Amino acid sequence: MSILENLYATPIGKRIAARAGLAEPPVLRRGRVLPLGPIVLATLPGGGIGAETLGLLGVSPVDPLLDLPEHRTPDDKGRDQPPRYEQRPGAVIIDATGVREIAQLEGVRQVLRPAMRGLESSGRIIVLASDADAVDGVEAKAVAQALDGITRTVSKELRAGATANLVFVRAETAATDLRSTLSFLLEGRSAFVAGQTWRVGPAKAGDAVGDDYVAHRPFEQRIVVVTGAARGIGAEIARTFARDGATVVAVDVPAAGDALAKVANEVRGSALQLDITAADAARRIAAHVVTVHGRDAKIWAIIHNAGITRDKMLANLDEGRWGSVLEVNLAAELRMNPELLDAGLPGGLADNARIVGIASTSGWAGNKGQANYAASKAGVMGLTWAESAELAGRPVTANAVAPGFIETEMTAAIPFVQREIFRRTNALGQGGKPVDVAETIAYLSDPASGGVDGQVVRVCGHNLIGA
Ligand SMILES: NC(=O)c1ccc[n+]([C@@H]2O[C@H](COP(=O)([O-])OP(=O)(O)OC[C@H]3O[C@@H](n4cnc5c(N)ncnc54)[C@H](O)[C@@H]3O)[C@@H](O)[C@H]2O)c1
Repeated sequence: MSILENLYATPIGKRIAARAGLAEPPVLRRGRVLPLGPIVLATLPGGGIGAETLGLLGVSPVDPLLDLPEHRTPDDKGRDQPPRYEQRPGAVIIDATGVREIAQLEGVRQVLRPAMRGLESSGRIIVLASDADAVDGVEAKAVAQALDGITRTVSKELRAGATANLVFVRAETAATDLRSTLSFLLEGRSAFVAGQTWRVGPAKAGDAVGDDYVAHRPFEQRIVVVTGAARGIGAEIARTFARDGATVVAVDVPAAGDALAKVANEVRGSALQLDITAADAARRIAAHVVTVHGRDAKIWAIIHNAGITRDKMLANLDEGRWGSVLEVNLAAELRMNPELLDAGLPGGLADNARIVGIASTSGWAGNKGQANYAASKAGVMGLTWAESAELAGRPVTANAVAPGFIETEMTAAIPFVQREIFRRTNALGQGGKPVDVAETIAYLSDPASGGVDGQVVRVCGHNLIGA
């Protein structure tokens, strides 16, 4: 611990931090836990998929019975009193999928205004909107984008660990396609996903969820490969998949063999010591799957989590630091996916498999001293979009997460002052936990997430700086 960190841990240090606006951040609701308070559903004219999806989730929403303006009396100084919800909501869902005109946005304002100070801690605002591609006319497309701007602002204005996110619903999307997304956003699994927008569409042919699907154990009988699983985010990904029923293959370099074995034992999976930059890495993973699980076994999901940093300002960045980061973080995934997707490879990816890459907010916004890392992580996003487009004819999905500041050994190595700035400069005022990234990856890999494809979901608490 540095001198500053020691000071920060003392009562006086805490008081100084509070004075500097660095008060203790709220404890976030995590896990497969719904909000405590009522789930309010406001269906604006033309909507309906929200109610249908909540029905599938077994959630009974309540109407936004507001204490409306005509019933309100001004306070004793004659000032306008903002409307209030009758009971403090745990979540407010606005189904704006039918909204096409600027004038209809007033309905969104009316529902949101009382939620801004009335939501419970770690409450949720979820806006459902029609994707611009699914509506006709310039005004309707402009309005779709306007909803995005509203949601991102709401996310920055909310307090006490509450989040706001928006889902763009594509044409032909059914409630069954939306259920994993709505469930994820309502539950504590999405604790550190704030101010984000992504798209959900119809699952591809051949990717419908069977009768054996159990929402809280979605990976039962499924094999999930996690690279870089010996520690940090990778170890937590392994634990989260195991909690949800998966059989985990934990991969890491031989030098991390002891830690890897511990994680594999803990999750009752198997360990594979492998450097993912090896030319035959994909074949060795497939061979391991066949050896441990039999010749007919296939991989349900591969999570390309292994990653390294070799930070230097570009003026000092040598070829070794440049090449190693691009090789581990980007080239290895690029090489492995096509080999694992080869339907003839025993132990390769299943027909409707899930591929998840790990990008980084450094790849969106850039980060001083990280030209190599930002290149590799932006490259992961490009790879994800291109692969998803290329796989359009197959029921495989390719997605990525882009974590912001997550508390791991990787970020513990950042100098204190810089670390404290990174940690605090998001709408939730704190760093995320490895489990927050793991939960988002598990959601993207869910058998019911077949309509979530080609998306990059940031897990950053809604960064206040950068793109
Ligand atoms: N921690 C954060 O704030 C953060 C933010 C954004 C993105 N990420 C990304 O999340 C992922 C995990 O990060 P972390 O913080 O847990 O890192 P970490 O350094 O704690 O763990 C990374 C793991 O990958 C393994 N690994 C490295 N090179 C490998 C190789 N060639 N073959 C196999 N395994 C290899 C390491 O041995 C280690 O166990 C990385 O891709 C990282 O870039 C992390």
